[in-house]
Amino acid sequence: MKTYLVTGGAGFIGSNYVLYLLERYPQVKVINVDVLTYAGNLENLKSIEGDPRHFFVQADICDRAAVQKLFQDHDVDYLVNFAAESHVDRSILDPQVFVQTNVSGTLNLLQCAKEAWQIGEDEYKPGVKFLQVSTDEVYGSLGAEGFFTEQTPLDPHSPYSASKASADLLTKAFYDTYRLPINITRCSNNYGPFQFPEKLIPLMLNNALQHRELPVYGDGLQIRDWLYVEDHCQAVELVLRDGAVGEVYNIGGHNERTNLEIVGQIIAYLRQEADSAVGEHLIRHVIDRKGHDRRYGIDPTKISEALGWSPQTAFEQGIRKTIKWYLDNHDWVEHVTSGSYRDYYQRLYEGR
Ligand code: NAD
Ligand code: DAU
Repeated sequence: MKTYLVTGGAGFIGSNYVLYLLERYPQVKVINVDVLTYAGNLENLKSIEGDPRHFFVQADICDRAAVQKLFQDHDVDYLVNFAAESHVDRSILDPQVFVQTNVSGTLNLLQCAKEAWQIGEDEYKPGVKFLQVSTDEVYGSLGAEGFFTEQTPLDPHSPYSASKASADLLTKAFYDTYRLPINITRCSNNYGPFQFPEKLIPLMLNNALQHRELPVYGDGLQIRDWLYVEDHCQAVELVLRDGAVGEVYNIGGHNERTNLEIVGQIIAYLRQEADSAVGEHLIRHVIDRKGHDRRYGIDPTKISEALGWSPQTAFEQGIRKTIKWYLDNHDWVEHVTSGSYRDYYQRLYEGR
């Protein structure tokens, strides 16, 4: 029986991960800590309401006393840190909270984990691990050739990626200095159910269904390396259980697409399956993102060779599943776009 402390478990990837854990392991305890920013949505966890293996705690990862109490109340084996401010455009507008949560919050978690797990000089309770969920954006931008490997120097460009790189360096420092058992995973762009519609795929999908313009930044030829969220969850789980302590693992699916290709695919699918009035005429090229990274592409050789991981979901299958999920879960989309998902916590936990 393992006890997981999952942070950010009401967000997109975190909630998928919590559902993934509970579905696969009958004997598991998940302490889900999320402060519920605009991106945290307890409706993502509706299917596990009442599950005695899941404990939701509304708390800020920057809050020392709150995190210490979690370690005192539960015999935590694994800490998986998904909690973050995650949206690049928001970081360009207002970087401060990115440093607060992504840097100071991660440092606080590292300190609390060290304090709770340490049993001697450079010695920790057996089997414990701290996994920092990071991003390929810490490597910066690629030209037409080559891929990011774990040896690629960090070269973040946006306030978001700079804050994630700082958190990576702090996590590494806790291994180098104190031998805290850690891993860092750096994943490419995720897509799938429960993604907040500020990100490319759900935003385009939602706009197209409402016949609103599809805002493509600049020429739309920027490249991202898309991975289905469940494949990311599986990789995180493998690294947590079997990854060599202190190591970094890149996670990606050799699945590079331009943004225009993604938008084109969404339009084609919606025309075919849902609404023939959706078309390329909705695409509008708008002013480019400041400092926009041109291309991301992950080399996943290390995780593939060391842990036998490879993505299970082909892009055509994953994007169809994702679009179908958004079409079938109209209530979720409606609650997110109207903002009513924010009342859910009160209704659920405070009986209002
Ligand atoms: P998200 O924005 O959907 O969710 C983040 C969650 O963290 C939300 O539930 C939010 O309420 C919570 N949170 C924010 N600040 C907090 C705080 N101070 N204390 C407690 N909880 C807080 O993000 P996501 O897309 O699910 O990303 C999860 C993690 O994965 C992030 O660390 C991100 O950097 C990383 N990542 C994301 C992607 C991607 O494509 N989305 C790819 C690679 C890595
Ligand atoms: O690479 C991993 C990263 O992927 C994660 O670390 C981040 O948390 C996550 O948000 C994501 O960052 P991106 O900036 O790549 O994702 P986003 O969905 O914001 O944008 C994807 C691409 O689409 C990017 O080139 C910008 C472009 N874009 C985005 C939006 C929202 C548009 O052209 N129009 C849009 O309206």
